[in-house]
Amino acid sequence: MKTRAAVLWELGGKWEVEEVELDPPESGEVLVKLTASGLCHSDEHLVTGDLPFPLPVVGGHEGAGKVVEVGEGVTDIEVGDSVVLTFLPSCGHCSYCVRGMTNVCDLGAALMMGPQLDGTHRFHARGEDLGQMCLLGTFSEYTVVPTASVVKVDDGTALDKAALVGCGIPTGYGSAVRTAEVKAGDTVVVLGVGGIGVNAVQGARIAGARYVIAVDPVAFKRERALEFGATHVAESADAAWELVSRLTRGQMAEACIIATDVAEGSYTAPALALVGKRGRVIITAIGHPEEETITASLLDITLYEKQIRGALYGSSNAQHDVPRLLELYNAGLLKIDELITREYRLEDINQGYEDMREGRNIRGLIRY
Ligand SMILES: NC(=O)c1ccc[n+]([C@@H]2O[C@H](COP(=O)([O-])OP(=O)(O)OC[C@H]3O[C@@H](n4cnc5c(N)ncnc54)[C@H](O)[C@@H]3O)[C@@H](O)[C@H]2O)c1
Ligand SMILES: [Zn+2]
Ligand SMILES: [Zn+2]
Repeated sequence: MKTRAAVLWELGGKWEVEEVELDPPESGEVLVKLTASGLCHSDEHLVTGDLPFPLPVVGGHEGAGKVVEVGEGVTDIEVGDSVVLTFLPSCGHCSYCVRGMTNVCDLGAALMMGPQLDGTHRFHARGEDLGQMCLLGTFSEYTVVPTASVVKVDDGTALDKAALVGCGIPTGYGSAVRTAEVKAGDTVVVLGVGGIGVNAVQGARIAGARYVIAVDPVAFKRERALEFGATHVAESADAAWELVSRLTRGQMAEACIIATDVAEGSYTAPALALVGKRGRVIITAIGHPEEETITASLLDITLYEKQIRGALYGSSNAQHDVPRLLELYNAGLLKIDELITREYRLEDINQGYEDMREGRNIRGLIRY
């Protein structure tokens, strides 16, 4: 079939919206008509090269929609089902899945390769095969994805809102609640409160944190973070240090989550300085693969038992966390509507990314 998709043809290029060819679902795959797709910063990394990915690629990894066709052997998903597409597939039977760590499922090895799990491509244009970001490619009206990437949600779910539960919400919420293990009464600092960080702020609030300090150089982001549960804001990690020191009477925070646009090696020492004994620094932001040097006082790490933890998808388990987060939304505990600053047509995707870079959006959303 033909569909319209945003394709990245070259490093540093623009997203080009064009008609592309989409094959029917193969065995173990489904065809999804998307309702909406979020504009996560990770797709920007494909453009800048911070996430190396074979081009051309259909971008987008944060979406929801309805199933319109199922491939051979698909028994647990039916035509008409409402689904959230998760950027981390889980097979359910690898060593990690069976231990409840589905975010690090062995299928993750295929995420940044381009083709589908069987090594062949579903999207084609201009005589070339197109890869799919994280096996998804949600910058398209229709896409074909493996069932391992699909989470069924209740009929009647607002799929435009649910799109953000594909990446931004579980990644941010989970970075606080799961990876950082925030507990009632804790003090939590979030460095960078865009689409991911602001969800770490709300995760910390829901987990019962006493103080949540949102750090961002952009005034608009700091103002919005207060609406999501930040108790204090600061313009920089240095400014936050004075604040956290005063608030905690020198004990410092239990956790500091790095959710900046890019992770830099120079961010870890200030983040470690913001946490106290047994404090956790969580690295959620994506760093360039060649960034191999991070700053830290090794003596502080030993003497104060400080920890640095990576967070992929906020250590979430999609089949559990996606429905759970939608329940929190329905119960009025988790804000989703307020995350969506602006909506765009697929044709205006480059404007959406321009607005993200300029600090004008918490999250931009493409509505199909
Ligand atoms: N680990 C994962 O599973 C995962 C999943 C999705 C996204 N990510 C990554 O998370 C990061 C954030 O994504 P996003 O969509 O929220 O991006 P975003 O652009 O919406 O937000 C980034 C924020 O960081 C702020 N910032 C920049 N430099 C800063 C600094 N030095 N100190 C404090 N704040 C600073 C910006 O002003 C902006 O508000 C990206 O690197 C993205 O690739 C990781
Ligand atoms: Zn994302
Ligand atoms: Zn697995």
